[in-house]
Amino acid sequence: MNQPNHCTKELNGAVWDPDCASWRIVEKQAAKECLRSPKFSNGARIEGLFQRALQGSNCTKSYPALRRFTKARLGLLDGAEHKKLRAALQPAFTQKSLAGLRPNLSRIAQKHANACAAHTRFDLLTTYIQPMVQQMLLELLEFPPGCWAKIERWAACQTRFYIGQPDPAAQKQVADAAQAAVLQYEAFFLAQAACRTDDPASPSLLSLLQALPRFASREREAELAAVCLNVLTAGYWPVVSALSTTIPLTLDQGKLHPDTPDENAALIDSALLQATPAQHVARVTTEQVTLASVKIKSGAQCLVSLSALTQDLSGSGPNSAFGLGPHYCLGSRLAQMMMEEAVTALFVACSNLEAEAPLSPSDPRSGLRHIPHFWLQNPQAQTP
Ligand code: HEM
Repeated sequence: MNQPNHCTKELNGAVWDPDCASWRIVEKQAAKECLRSPKFSNGARIEGLFQRALQGSNCTKSYPALRRFTKARLGLLDGAEHKKLRAALQPAFTQKSLAGLRPNLSRIAQKHANACAAHTRFDLLTTYIQPMVQQMLLELLEFPPGCWAKIERWAACQTRFYIGQPDPAAQKQVADAAQAAVLQYEAFFLAQAACRTDDPASPSLLSLLQALPRFASREREAELAAVCLNVLTAGYWPVVSALSTTIPLTLDQGKLHPDTPDENAALIDSALLQATPAQHVARVTTEQVTLASVKIKSGAQCLVSLSALTQDLSGSGPNSAFGLGPHYCLGSRLAQMMMEEAVTALFVACSNLEAEAPLSPSDPRSGLRHIPHFWLQNPQAQTP
C-alpha cells in the first residue's frame, strides 16, 4: 500500500506509520468511530490477502478450503454475514449457558495452582498460566490431551495468512500452507467427532456449540471445526496475556480474598482494563473516509489502538479491553470466568506469594507479543 501523499505525522489521533503502511488510530473518539462504522471492514482486509496470494502468478487455485474456513470465523466477517453467524453462536456464550463450565475450569486451575505451591520460586507464565490455559481450552473443546502443539501449528499457519505478508510471492506461500493446514485440521476434528461421547454431567463448550440449531445438520461439521479453532486462537493469547499482567497487579494491590468472589471479579476486571492485552485490531477502509480531520483513502489499513479506548479507565459499561462495537469479544464472559478461577486458585494455593521485582509501569500495556515473564517467590512452598 502506498504512503498517502498528504500526511506523515499525527493529526488528531490518526498517525500514518510507514513501517507497516497503516494508519494508527490512537485517540479514543477516532478509535470508537472505526470500530463502530461499517466503513472500516474486516472482510475487505482478508479479501485483499486472498487477492495478493493470487496476484502475479499463473496459479488458478482460489484456496476453496481456506475461503470456506475463513467464512466461519467471526472476526473476519462483516455486516449481515457477521451478524448472522454471531447471532447463531451467541446463545452458547451467555452467562447462563457458561455457568455449567465453571466447576471444570476451577478444577483445572486448582490442579495447576497446587503444582505451583510445591515450588519456592516459579515463573508465572510458563509454570502456571500457559499450561493451565492450554488445558482449559483443550477440555472446553473436547480435544484430546497432548494435542496442543499440533493444533497450535495448524492455527499458526492460519494466523500467518491473516496477518499478511508484504510481497505476493510470500503471501502465496503462506496461503498454500494455510490451505493445507485447514485440510489437516478438519480431518483431525472429524476423526475426533466420530469417537466423542456426551457426558451431560460435565458439559463442555463444544457440547453447548453442538446443541445450537446452526449445527443441527452434519453438513455443518466443517463450520463447527472452524468455529472451534476460532475460539481456541481468539481465546489463548489474550487470556494468557491478561493473566500475566492481572495476577501481578492483583498481587500488588493485595486485596484478593477467596470468600468474596464478586469483589474479586471486580478487581480482576479493573486490572484487565489497566492491562489491555490486545495492542490493536486491524480494519481496512471500504471507501474514502475522514477521520479526526484526516482524509483516509479507500482500501487503507488502519490499526486501531485498544489502549486508546481505555484512556479514561472509567470502568463504567462493558470492559473495553474486549473491544467495542459489533465485534466486541464473543468470549468475554468465558474469559472473565477463566481468569477468576485462575487468579483465585493461585492465591488460595500460594497465599504468601511475593514478586521478585515490581511490575514495571510499561508492562501492563505491552501487548500480546511482549508478555512479561514474572518470577514469584513462594516462601510457604510445601517442599517434600
Ligand atoms: C482476557 C481475554 C480476552 C481479551 C482481552 C479479548 C479481546 C478481544 C477483542 C479486543 C476482540 C475484538 C477484536 C476486533 O474488534 O477485531 C475480541 C474478539 C473475539 N474474541 Fe476475545 N478476548 C479474550 C478472550 C477470548 C476468549 C476466551 C474467547 C473464546 C471463547 C474469545 C473469542 C473471541 C471471538 C470469537 C472474537 C470475535 C468476535 C467477533 O468478531 O464478533 N476471546 N476479543
